[in-house]
Amino acid sequence: MAVRHFLDLSDAGTDALAAMIDDAQQRKVARREWPRGKADADAPLAGHVLAMVFEKNSTRTRVSFDIAMRQLGGSALVLDSASSQLGRGESIADTARVLSRMADAIMLRTDDHAKAEEMARHASVPVINGLTDRSHPCQIVADLLTVIEQGKPLPGLELAWLGDGNNVLHSILEAAGLFKFNVRVATPPGYEPDGEFVEAARANGARILLTNDAAAAAEGADILVTDTWISMGQEHAEAKLAAMAPFQVNETLMARAKPDARFLHCLPAHVGEEVSEGVFEGSQSVVFDEAENRIHAQKSVLLWCFGKL
Ligand code: CP
Ligand code: NVA
Repeated sequence: MAVRHFLDLSDAGTDALAAMIDDAQQRKVARREWPRGKADADAPLAGHVLAMVFEKNSTRTRVSFDIAMRQLGGSALVLDSASSQLGRGESIADTARVLSRMADAIMLRTDDHAKAEEMARHASVPVINGLTDRSHPCQIVADLLTVIEQGKPLPGLELAWLGDGNNVLHSILEAAGLFKFNVRVATPPGYEPDGEFVEAARANGARILLTNDAAAAAEGADILVTDTWISMGQEHAEAKLAAMAPFQVNETLMARAKPDARFLHCLPAHVGEEVSEGVFEGSQSVVFDEAENRIHAQKSVLLWCFGKL
């Protein structure tokens, strides 16, 4: 079997992603109320080690992959760029080859998607994208799981994205093409997502609306999603914050969506910027289910990479 890297959702494809979401749901139910560090009954990755490389900060990705490996019966270790030789200029290629001799899989969070691709080219074990400037596929497996848990089937779903056309949106667009749901993207002019993701989603049969009108995007939507206006590695620009202000997900915008619409945010959130406190803390917000689901989703991504799904 070829090494299964997970750099983007399309590396797995629709059927494997659907299997991942199913498996995540089953494993989540099977271990309800168990201590978080206890292994699942079948411990399918017993003895396996995941090396996690971080060139950017993380709370959820780091903790969820660590706990995911424990629950699958394996373990994880962390290298951050500052304290590893990567920070002193050792190449990605050599790091990939060394980690492939010492660990069974690599998860990488980096500023430049090309580095994740380079890691995958040189690694002989699976490489998982734990966020790059281009995409965040692991987050979106958790998001799809959360949407399904809320009783909303993916085909035909109307999802509205408000704010910055960023890495998280790119993976949502990729998912839209794979699962045939529709995305209304409301951004200020100049902050649209990469056209490559929009075109690919459309070519796969998703309806993608690009607009500068937040209210139009939210109208009758099943799901409203936003993210920080300033992503890691970007300049904190007052002009960008000002342009984003009309795209805040607040009670007025939420009222335009379906009455049973849900609010998602990958976190960390900047309450008072991209989302109002009322929406963030309100009954339609499922952001902490979404955060917990990172564990359950990451387990199924790992199982797929290891050829066990
Ligand atoms: N959502 C997400 O990836 O969170 P972290 O940056 O904390 O990993
Ligand atoms: N778009 C954000 C997501 C953080 C999880 C960033 O890249 O910083």
